[in-house]
Amino acid sequence: MDFLQIGDLGRDGLTDTLATAARVKLEREAVRGTRPGVRVGLFFEKPSLRTRVSCEVAVTDLGGVPFVLKQDEVGLGKREGVADVARVLDRYLDVLAFRVFRHTDLEALAAAAAAPVVNLLSDREHPCQALADLQTLAEHRPLDGAVVAFVGDGDNNVCTSLMIGAAVMGVSIRVASPAGYGPEKETLAAAQAVAAPGVDIVVTDDPAEAVRGADAVYTDVWASMGQEAEAAARRERLDPYRVDERLFALAAADAIFLHCLPAHRGDEVTDAVVDHERSRVFDQAENRLHAFKALLLRITE
Ligand code: CP
Ligand code: NVA
Repeated sequence: MDFLQIGDLGRDGLTDTLATAARVKLEREAVRGTRPGVRVGLFFEKPSLRTRVSCEVAVTDLGGVPFVLKQDEVGLGKREGVADVARVLDRYLDVLAFRVFRHTDLEALAAAAAAPVVNLLSDREHPCQALADLQTLAEHRPLDGAVVAFVGDGDNNVCTSLMIGAAVMGVSIRVASPAGYGPEKETLAAAQAVAAPGVDIVVTDDPAEAVRGADAVYTDVWASMGQEAEAAARRERLDPYRVDERLFALAAADAIFLHCLPAHRGDEVTDAVVDHERSRVFDQAENRLHAFKALLLRITE
C-alpha cells in the first residue's frame, strides 16, 4: 500500500500502526532484524534531520538497507522525469519514500511505481509526522475524547495531517490562525468526513478560544520549507499567534506542548514553552523512529 496521506491507513490501520509503534518502542529488540534485506529508498528534495535519521535507523533496526538520495544528485523532474525516476527505483528497491515540494509529484511517483510509496513530507501532508504526533499524545492520555489546539499556520502539511489523523482517532481539534492562514475548505471537509463520533473540529482566529482547556497545544513554523520568500509577511500576520507561557497556561493544567521541529524559537513558540516541563517535543522526535518502524512493518508484511 502507498502512504501518501494519513487517511490512507483508515481507522483500523491507524489504530494498529499506533499500537505497533507503542510496542516496538517498549520492545525494540523484539522486531530487530525482522525484515532482513528489505531495500528502502529515502529521497529528499528538501532538508531534513529527524526524518532522514529516524527512517535510516528504523530500516537498519529491522535488518533492511536504507538508500538515501538527494535532489542534487537525482534531479527529480529536472535531470529526469518523475515517472521515469519511479520506474527505475522500482527495479532496485522494495519501498520508495520521498520528501518532495509538490504533492502531485508524489502521486505521479506512486502511479508509476509498483513498490509502496511513502510520503516523507510534501506541500500537502506530513503523515509520518502525524503518526508520531498521535503516538506522543497517546502516551499522555487516551486519544478518544482528547482535545488538541493547533495555533499558527493552519494551512500547512503538519496541521493538515494532524487534523485528519486526529479526527479519525476520536481527537477533537481546534485550529487558530489569522484570516487567510487557516485550513483549506477541502482539509476541513476531509477531516469532517472521517471524524469519529463525538469529534469537534473548530477553526477560529482566536488562539485563546482554541487553547482553553486543551490537552495538547501544537504549533509549527510560520514559513514552511519553500515559503522562505513569504517569511517576513507571514511573521507580521502570525505574530499574535506565538505560543508563549501566557497562552499555554490557558490549556488544561496537565496539557502538553507539541511541535514537529525544527522550531523557530522566538517566532511561533518561546523558549519557555519549548523547554517547559510539559513540552514533549523530543519524545515526538523520538517517536518518529518507532512510528516509521511500525509503518514499515505494516507495508512490508
Ligand atoms: N519533523 C521533521 O520532519 O523534521 P525534519 O524536517 O528534520 O525531517
Ligand atoms: N511545515 C514544515 C514542517 C517541517 C518538518 C515544513 O514543511 O517546512
